[in-house]
Amino acid sequence: MPFEFRSLMFGIVILLAVFFILADISEVEEENRNHGGTRTFYLPSYLSKSNRTVVVEPDPTQRAIVGGSNPPPPSCSTEATSVEWTFNRTLSNLIRKNILKFLDAERDISILKGTLKPGDVIHYIFDRQSTTNISDNLYRLLPQVSPMKNQHHKRCAIVGNSGILLNSSCGREIDSHDFVIRCNLAPVEEFAADVGRRTSLVTMNPSVVQRAFQDLSSELWRERFLQRLRGLSGSVLWIPAFMAKGGEERVEWAVRLILQHTINVRTAFPSLRLLHAVRGYWLTNKVLIKRPTTGLLMYTLATRFCEEIHLYGFWPFARDSQGNLVKYHYYDTLTYEYTSRASPHTMPLEFRTLRSLHSQGALRLHVGACTPRE
Ligand SMILES: *[C@@H]1O[C@H](CO)[C@@H](O)[C@H](O)[C@H]1NC(C)=O
Ligand SMILES: *[C@@H]1O[C@H](CO)[C@@H](O)[C@H](O)[C@H]1NC(C)=O
Ligand SMILES: *[C@@H]1O[C@H](CO)[C@@H](O)[C@H](O)[C@H]1NC(C)=O
Ligand SMILES: *[C@@H]1O[C@H](CO)[C@@H](O)[C@H](O)[C@H]1NC(C)=O
Repeated sequence: MPFEFRSLMFGIVILLAVFFILADISEVEEENRNHGGTRTFYLPSYLSKSNRTVVVEPDPTQRAIVGGSNPPPPSCSTEATSVEWTFNRTLSNLIRKNILKFLDAERDISILKGTLKPGDVIHYIFDRQSTTNISDNLYRLLPQVSPMKNQHHKRCAIVGNSGILLNSSCGREIDSHDFVIRCNLAPVEEFAADVGRRTSLVTMNPSVVQRAFQDLSSELWRERFLQRLRGLSGSVLWIPAFMAKGGEERVEWAVRLILQHTINVRTAFPSLRLLHAVRGYWLTNKVLIKRPTTGLLMYTLATRFCEEIHLYGFWPFARDSQGNLVKYHYYDTLTYEYTSRASPHTMPLEFRTLRSLHSQGALRLHVGACTPRE
């Protein structure tokens, strides 16, 4: 009897496992089909290279990179560092137009004051069953009008946080752009020669308060956090407060400090539809991301208000093209598996996509050292 019971349980477990695997696969297919209906193809050479099957298959070269012993294949760098890059304005305009069918960065970059009131209940985007309330403090920091209203810039830089920036001497080049976007409140002062100082917009996931500022647990950390915010002097601080549950208190601490110390930043809180719209755009173009990284989000938004977009510090590999180790972040000791199944992000896939757009002249990816200008 006990034996039969065990076999039965075993059978049920196997069935469940198979069911979940199939459900997972069909979910991906479902998404792909749903968006297939409104296909707008405008990255022709990219699409012809990258079919769905290619994307889903594990890429053996990547595994080697993550394993850490082999340098990445030459294709990871030669293409991206090629000197004779020229901007393709036609393609860039086409991409902007198509992204606008999914989202309007001017609007979706932030929830505005008029659309919510204190006490309103928000469902988290990735944890639909969890909710949070709009606090009085957060409400006070919602902008009246979009911080990107009527903004148009000729050359924008988006600075990712990869350790590939270390010793790059890219600081001056980055700062020479009209608009500089940074991610997750990454420090700049100590690394200015490589990453620059200028910041027009910076993102801050709630988890940053914990990871980089010890949950503001002491006066010292609170002061450091304030120091970093003061350094932003007037730029946009973009806080994705309603993505995933767990960050509620951290967001509240941050907004309270900003108000108490009248910090000069323009806060923005992304609209509730932004993530799905961005994902929808990329899925429609057969880029099967799970959840876009901040970097890809910023690129997608920046197409709205930037002519030429230059990316720095995007490098989701453990080694550079010469085989030297590359830190995950230029400023801390965090390590990470770029292709981990548990990760919500698909960084190497995003990188391949950006590299392809680079080779078509839609954007420029800078992965090597910058030539210092005399
Ligand atoms: C991509 O798909 C098209 C048709 O769907 C096919 O002709 C082509 O060979 C495929 N390319 C790759 C790289 O798999
Ligand atoms: C620029 O992109 C457009 C649209 O993809 C393409 O038709 C055109 O040939 C490209 N121009 C150059 C110079 O590559
Ligand atoms: C959210 O607001 C409602 C109504 O104002 C209140 O009853 C509830 O306790 C609040 N929840 C939280 C977590 O503050
Ligand atoms: C940067 O350069 C310094 C001095 O040449 C060297 O000690 C350090 O290892 C380099 N760091 C990286 C990440 O290449």
